[in-house]
Amino acid sequence: MSFRTTADYVEDVSPGGGALPPRAWYAASDAKSLSLNGSWRFRLSATADAEDDTFAEPGHDTGDWAEVTVPGHWVLQGHGAPIYTNHLYPFPVDPPRVPTENPTGDHVRHFDLPADWPADGAAVLRFDGVESCARVWLNGTDIGEFKGSRLPHEFAVGHLLRPAGNVLAVRVHQWSAGSYLEDQDQWWLPGIFRDVTLLHRPAGCVLDFFVHASYDHVSGEGTLRVDSDTDGRVTVPELDLDLATGESATVPVEPWTAETPRLYDGVLATEGERVPLRIGFRTVELSDGLIKVNGTAVLFKGVNRHEWHPERGRALDPETMREDVLLMKRHNINAVRTSHYPPHPAFLDLCDELGLWVIDECDLETHGFTEQGWRDNPVDDDRWTPALLDRAARMVERDKNHPSVVMWSLGNEAGTGRGLTAMAEWIRGRDASRLIHYEGDLDCRDTDVYSRMYAAHAEVERIGRGLDGGTHKRRALPFIQCEYAHAMGNGPGGLADYQRLFEAYERLQGGFVWEWIDHGIRHPELGYAYGGDFGEELHDGNFVCDGLLFPDRTPSPGLAEYKKVIEPVGFDGDGDGGTVRITNKQDFADLSALAFEWSYQVEGETAESGSLAVPPLAPRASAEVKLPEPPAPHPDGGETQWTVRAVLAADTAWAPRGHVVAWSQFPVTARQAPAVAATARPVRGADRITLGPAAFDARTGALLSIGAVAVRDLRLDVWRAPTDNDDGASWQDDVRHGPLWRRLGLHRMRHRLDAVETAGDTLTVRTRVAPAAWEFGLATVYRWTSDGTRLKLTVSVVPEGDWTVPLPRLGVRFALSAADEVRWFGGGPGEAYPDTRAASMTGRWRSTVDALQTPYVRPQENGARAGVRWAELGGLRVEGDPEFWLTARRWTTEQLDAARHLTDLAPGDAVWVNLDHGQHGIGSQSCGPGPLPGYFLRAEPAEFSFVFTETG
Ligand code: GAL
Repeated sequence: MSFRTTADYVEDVSPGGGALPPRAWYAASDAKSLSLNGSWRFRLSATADAEDDTFAEPGHDTGDWAEVTVPGHWVLQGHGAPIYTNHLYPFPVDPPRVPTENPTGDHVRHFDLPADWPADGAAVLRFDGVESCARVWLNGTDIGEFKGSRLPHEFAVGHLLRPAGNVLAVRVHQWSAGSYLEDQDQWWLPGIFRDVTLLHRPAGCVLDFFVHASYDHVSGEGTLRVDSDTDGRVTVPELDLDLATGESATVPVEPWTAETPRLYDGVLATEGERVPLRIGFRTVELSDGLIKVNGTAVLFKGVNRHEWHPERGRALDPETMREDVLLMKRHNINAVRTSHYPPHPAFLDLCDELGLWVIDECDLETHGFTEQGWRDNPVDDDRWTPALLDRAARMVERDKNHPSVVMWSLGNEAGTGRGLTAMAEWIRGRDASRLIHYEGDLDCRDTDVYSRMYAAHAEVERIGRGLDGGTHKRRALPFIQCEYAHAMGNGPGGLADYQRLFEAYERLQGGFVWEWIDHGIRHPELGYAYGGDFGEELHDGNFVCDGLLFPDRTPSPGLAEYKKVIEPVGFDGDGDGGTVRITNKQDFADLSALAFEWSYQVEGETAESGSLAVPPLAPRASAEVKLPEPPAPHPDGGETQWTVRAVLAADTAWAPRGHVVAWSQFPVTARQAPAVAATARPVRGADRITLGPAAFDARTGALLSIGAVAVRDLRLDVWRAPTDNDDGASWQDDVRHGPLWRRLGLHRMRHRLDAVETAGDTLTVRTRVAPAAWEFGLATVYRWTSDGTRLKLTVSVVPEGDWTVPLPRLGVRFALSAADEVRWFGGGPGEAYPDTRAASMTGRWRSTVDALQTPYVRPQENGARAGVRWAELGGLRVEGDPEFWLTARRWTTEQLDAARHLTDLAPGDAVWVNLDHGQHGIGSQSCGPGPLPGYFLRAEPAEFSFVFTETG
C-alpha cells in the first residue's frame, strides 16, 4: 500500500495548479489594489508535512507565532540559515525528489478590505516571487500551489473575499521539484521575497495586453499597435493618437534606445480600467549577422545583475533598484543581463526610463547535473517541459511591454535538450520582435547570438576574425560574452584588452562583466559573511563575492576601471602635437549632451584650465580638436601634461551636470629622475654605520632611521597576499600562480646576509633571497648613498637558478612606527595593478593609510597606487627612479594573507610600506583566464632606486 502525503505537490514536476494564465505586469492602474506586504505571522517546520493545514483556517490562533517581514527571506530574519553553493545541489540529486528535511515556513496574514474597496467585480491575488514552492489558502479555501520562484503567480480570489477578517495563509517549502530548475550560483534563500498584492478587477478590466511599438529607421516613423484581451482604446496624447486596441498607426516618432530612452506616455482604457503605458519605439533584429536596434549594430557594455541587498537578500526595495540603475548609468554601463532570472518587474521600468539594454533571463539553471555528465537533466526530459514552458511564458508575458528588453534568455547553464528548444519555439511564436539568447548550447540551435562565458582574449579575437569553427549556423551569428571579467576580489584584470577587441571587430558585440555586486551578508562578527560562514556542509566560500560593487553598493576599483574602459568618448593624440582626436563611441546619440574641458598640469598640479569646443559629433564620428597654446614652461622644468575631460553639459535623470563621463591625459614634458650627488660617506661606529641622515646596524647593514624617523625591516619583498584571481578556480587545470607561488615558498623567503661593505661614498649590503627547499633565489644588493640630506637606495636583483614562475611583486618593504596622512604624485585616486590601471589618473593625491585599503570581502592584496613619482607619509618623502607602486597598511602582508574576513585585520604598532618596482598582473582567473603574458612580472635582472628625505 502506498499513500500520498498532503505535500505531494512539492515533488511534482508540474509548475503547479490553480493560478491564472500569465499576463503583462504593470505597476498601477486606476483599479484599486491593496499591498499585503508587511509583518506576517510565521512558523517554521523541519519538514514539508510536519504540520497539517489547519493553520490556514480562519480562527486558527497564530498569536504565539513569530513574525517575519514580507517581502523577505526567513533565513535572514533569524529562522534557519542561508546556504551558498555555486552549482552543487545542496541535497541528493534524485529528481524530482527532495529531502525529507525540507524547511517549511507557514505564513499568515490577516487583513480587512479598505472601506472604499468596490463591492462589485473580481479580485486577484498576486505573488511576485516566492522561493521555492508555495501553497495558498484564502479564508480556509485552498486556492492552489506554484513553483517558479522569481516569476509572478496570480489567483482569482474575489469569490472568497470578505470585507473584514480575511486570512491569507501561505505554506512555503524551501525545497521542491522546482529547486532542480533553480540551481543558480547564489544563496539558497527561501521565503516570500517579492510583493504580495490584492488587485481589484472591475468588470471590463484589462486582462493581458501586448504593446507592439516598432521603429523604422529609414522613414523615422514608429508603428504602434496594442493587442488586448479586453477591447478598448489606446491614447498617446503627445502623438495625437487615439486608436482601438488591435488597430495600428504609423507616425513620426523619436525612437527609444538605451542612450536616448525616449518614452511616450499613453493610456490603455477598457470599459473597466485605465492602465498607464510608457511606450518606447524600437526595432530589434538580426541583420547582416549583427544584433541591430533601429538599423544600427549595438555594442553591449554590460553587467550581470543578481538582485542583492546585504541584509534583505533578494528582497529589494524600490530605492535599491533605482540605485543600481543610477550606478550603472554613472559608470557608462549600457546593458544588463538579469542573471539568472527575471528581476523584480519594477527594475525593468527603471531600465526603460533611464536607458539600459536588457537581456531578460528565465528562471532556469540545472548546472548541478554537470556532476553526472548531465544525465537526467530536466531540460532534456519531456516530463519537465510543461514546467519549462510555464517559466518561459511567465517571463515573456510579464515583461513583454518593456522597450528595454531586447533579448530573451532561456536560462543559464542548463546543458542542452529538447526542453530548451520547446521554450525557444514557444517564445518565437509569441514574440518575434526580440532575439533569443542562451549560452549553454555551443551549436546555437535555439539562439540568435553566439554567446560564451570567460573566453580568453585570444579566442575572442579569433571569433572576431571569423576564424572559430562551429556549426554553419553559429558562424553566421554575432558574438557576445554573456559573462566575462570575473570581478571576484581584486580585479578583474584585462578589461581594456577585451574592450579593444570588442571595438575592433564588428562581430564582437560586447559583453557583460560577471557580476554587478558581491552577495556578502551583513554579519555582526564577520563584517560580511560568505559561503561556509553559516556552517553549511557544502559550500563555495567567497565565490559568491565577485561583484563590481561591495555588498553595501560602494563601487570597487573594478567598477572605476570598467567605467574608464567603456567610456563613450575616445581621445587620441599626443601632448606635443597640440591636437586631440575626439571620437564619439556611442551607437545612437551625438555628443551634444557633453561639454569638454581641458587642463594643463605641471608636476601634477593644474596650472590652467578651460573649456574645449567640440562639435556635436554623430555616433562613431570623430574630429581633430585643437588644444590651446600650452603655458610657458616653468624655469625649473618639471613634468607637464594635458588632461581632457568630457562631462555632462546639463543635469540628466541619472547624474548632475559636470559628471565626468570620459577623460584622457597626454604627457608633454617628461619627468626628470631624482638625482642625489653622493657627497656624504658612510661612517662606521661600534654598532652603527651612519650615512648622511641615516643610521644602519653595523653588523647587518639594516636601516634603522632616517633623521628622526625610525625605519625597520627594510628589505626586498616579493610576496603579496594572493588575490582570488591569483588563486584561480579549483577546477582549472591551467597554471594558477597563487598556489604555485605558495608551493615554491615565495611567502617564506629567507634573507641571507653575505656582506656589509663601506667603500668610498657607498654602503653596500649583499644578500641572497630564497625559499627553503629550492635552489632558485634572488641575488640582491642594496646600495646606499647620500648627499648629506637625502638618502638614496639602489636595489639590484639578479635571479639565480630555475625560475619557473613570475614574481607576485618586486620591491622593498619596511615598517614605520606611525603614519596617517599620505600624499603622492602619481596614479590615483584609486587602486591599480598592471592590467587594471586604465582608471588611474596621474595627479596629486591625498589620502590616509586607512583609506588606501580596498575592503575586499575576503582580504587579499589591494590598495596599490600606480606610477608614483613621489609619496610622503610618516615623516618621509620617497621619490622613485623609476616610478613605483605604493602600498601602505597597518598590518603585514602575512596578516593580510591569513585573514578570512575584514574583521580579522587589526592595526598593529607599525605601518607597513611597500615600494614596488613591479607587480604581477591580476587577470580574472578566479573563473576565467589569468593575466595576459604582457602583464607578467618575470624574474629578470632589475635595478631600481628610491630617494628618502625626512619631511620633519
Ligand atoms: C558562471 C555562472 C555564474 C557564476 C559564474 C562564476 O559559470 O553562469 O552564475 O557562477 O560562473 O561566478
